[in-house]
Amino acid sequence: MNILLLGSGGREHALAWKIAQSPKLNQLFIAPGNPGTSTLGTNLPIAADNFPALKEAVLENGIDLVLVGPEDPLVKGVVDFFAEDERIKNIPVVGPDKMGAQLEGSKDFSKQFMFRHHIPTAGYLSVTSGNIEEGIEFLKNLQAPYVLKADGLAAGKGVLILNDLNETITELKSMLDGKFGAASKTVVIEEFLSGIECSVFVITDGRNYKILPEAKDYKRIGESDKGLNTGGMGAVSPVPFANADFMQKVEERIIRPTVEGLYSEGIIYKGFIFFGLIKVTGEPYTIEYNARMGDPETEVVMLRLKSDLVDLLEGVANGNLNEKTVEFDERTAVTVMLVSGGYPENYEKGKEISGLDKVENSIVFHAGTTSKDGKIVTNGGRVIAVSSYGNSKEEALAQSFENAQLINFDKKYFRRDIGFDL
Ligand code: AMP
Ligand code: GLY
Repeated sequence: MNILLLGSGGREHALAWKIAQSPKLNQLFIAPGNPGTSTLGTNLPIAADNFPALKEAVLENGIDLVLVGPEDPLVKGVVDFFAEDERIKNIPVVGPDKMGAQLEGSKDFSKQFMFRHHIPTAGYLSVTSGNIEEGIEFLKNLQAPYVLKADGLAAGKGVLILNDLNETITELKSMLDGKFGAASKTVVIEEFLSGIECSVFVITDGRNYKILPEAKDYKRIGESDKGLNTGGMGAVSPVPFANADFMQKVEERIIRPTVEGLYSEGIIYKGFIFFGLIKVTGEPYTIEYNARMGDPETEVVMLRLKSDLVDLLEGVANGNLNEKTVEFDERTAVTVMLVSGGYPENYEKGKEISGLDKVENSIVFHAGTTSKDGKIVTNGGRVIAVSSYGNSKEEALAQSFENAQLINFDKKYFRRDIGFDL
């Protein structure tokens, strides 16, 4: 089977790494990919949201299946775009259509969906310029901290958690005035939930689903989870507090009603669902949905997935995921993200990366790198994910830590406490 994978980050390198292990794979193409994915397949210089060029690449390269890594092409409707063309409409795309991707693309849609299907989540009110007064009243009846969310995609920056009511009201107005552009023309005000978070991943063919290994990511730049939010500084799987009892509740109260809810609403959802969950006094609540795998969670989930990913993707395409089995590696996997100094604020790119060839007993995933004059250089805030197995999280972290020290670039920074709090 010839597969085209869309995206260019650490998540896509990890997916490519797993796909490349499949006996079912003939050729793997990645658009646009990165220097890491180029060692596993053929990178095509096409942006993941250049739909017409992607369509041509599908036809030219005899692609049998497309896997979409990031949310952007999904929310912009790559699945719908392909479905309109007679020549490729039967080529399966793993990823939801525009409607299904609203689970991630619109917080208002996802909250309404959860309430329709009685899926546990924080109480909320959606506010637009037409009902600001109602929004302020709603806020006054909540207790601090206050949660404001831009309805649309805002590059991970659209959620504000504030302690002061007046500041929250000011921020609400500024969001509605376009602080995050069109994404915050609607703002979701949420009740604050206090607990511990984890990410649960499901692959579904629209009727059947399989639960993949869960993970916890570390979002803050500083150790002990202090400082600014990032795209994710590391991840660990398994998550000890997501034990069998908790996962059973997650499946019964959240996963099954979500998959059945989508189906009952006529949304044909073929792809991954990422459940951002929080455990509050033992009970699971849904913080958010994403219409894709997580990053950097994928860099540990793929290590722990023993089953053939291509076989599962085929199950999604053919609608027989129920006939597939998903096996997990019992070991712990930890990934540590090496980032550019200054990230998530200002940072420089183009720094030469050395020491990649010295790494032993870890798997290096490229997140933000590019090739320049035969060298691999930094090309983003999050640069390299170093993933390792261990018989405990301490062992896996120690292994990633050892290799993280061998890889060098100017102003490299990483957290040394991934998984410590568990
Ligand atoms: P989201 O983009 O919806 O996942 O929100 C980003 C982060 O904000 C989450 O990972 C949580 O840490 C936090 N957060 C979002 N919603 C809530 C909530 N209702 N209560 C507490 N924390 C929240
Ligand atoms: N690691 C969180 C995300 O991928 O959204």
